Amino acid sequence: MGKSGSRLIEFIRERHGEETVEIARLEPIKERGLYGWLVRSFIPGLKASVKPVNLGGCELLYLIAPKWGYDCPPITGFIDARDLKGLKVALIVTYSKGDPSGYSRRLARRIERKGAKLLEVLELRREEILSGSFAEKMQSLCDRAAKKISSPNLSRSHEHEVVFLGMVNVNRDNYLQGVVDVWRCRQCKKLFCEDRRFGEALDPRVGFEEIPDDEQWAILTCTDVKGVFMMSLPVKPGKKIRHTCTNREKHVFNVKDDWSIDSSEGKTTHGIFMVKDYLNKVIEAGYYKLRMLK
Ligand SMILES: Cc1cc2nc3c(=O)[nH]c(=O)nc-3n(C[C@H](O)[C@H](O)[C@H](O)COP(=O)(O)O)c2cc1C
Ligand SMILES: [Zn+2]
Ligand SMILES: [Zn+2]
Repeated sequence: MGKSGSRLIEFIRERHGEETVEIARLEPIKERGLYGWLVRSFIPGLKASVKPVNLGGCELLYLIAPKWGYDCPPITGFIDARDLKGLKVALIVTYSKGDPSGYSRRLARRIERKGAKLLEVLELRREEILSGSFAEKMQSLCDRAAKKISSPNLSRSHEHEVVFLGMVNVNRDNYLQGVVDVWRCRQCKKLFCEDRRFGEALDPRVGFEEIPDDEQWAILTCTDVKGVFMMSLPVKPGKKIRHTCTNREKHVFNVKDDWSIDSSEGKTTHGIFMVKDYLNKVIEAGYYKLRMLK
């Protein structure tokens, strides 16, 4: 275990109390040495068997996974060796440079495919762990995870009971351009969105799309001089949104820690609005209004 891993464990033990936290180091059955691991880390999906870990009675697993090349074989080996049905997992990906989000997404899916419930995902850079500036992010991760395991609804032992909550209107310079209908489950309070754009057929989505627990519904608006396009979509900090404007311009927006995006100032202007903040309110995304508000 490297330095970063030890710092994180120390933090988790302090946060939850030493008596309640059990630590398991993933020990590969065959030790390969740095170079051996480096080579193996570039083989996608390669699994290295690890010594058995007892997860009996584990309420919440903090899985600390270092980013290694493409995949980290002992982590892949650990996940794939067992059924993780019902296990609640907070995933922490540590890395030293670059963008680890592709790896975290793949790892998240791998964990979920094994039947685990992924409560949280956090990416931490080695530097911020060693300098101590990670504390705030870790604190809120631990808090959110703890809240989720103490809330029985989140184990989803129910069929959603969805009722209409309200709507968000999206305007183009005072004219209604589209509406997002917002529904909510009576039990778990999860939101569900359905777009109605005027002059267009209803959204072909059947039923309600359920989004991951760590994401929230937002509305993306795309404005140019001719009109406003809008759609609802799930977002979270660090997520990349791929979007093509009606004029075929392609964009990738990075959702920032404050859940906003940097709008490119060109022919089109884009914005992200959180659905929960605009319930029964109006988002004005018209070309002229946006310019007046500046
Ligand atoms: C075999 C190996 C491959 C690695 N590959 C990457 C990599 O591709 N990208 C990256 O950001 N860090 C990479 N690292 C650095 C680890 O992510 C880093 O060591 C880890 O996050 C935890 O830091 P620690 O060494 O302080 O425990 C690699 C480390 C090892 C040992
Ligand atoms: Zn529900
Ligand atoms: Zn656009």
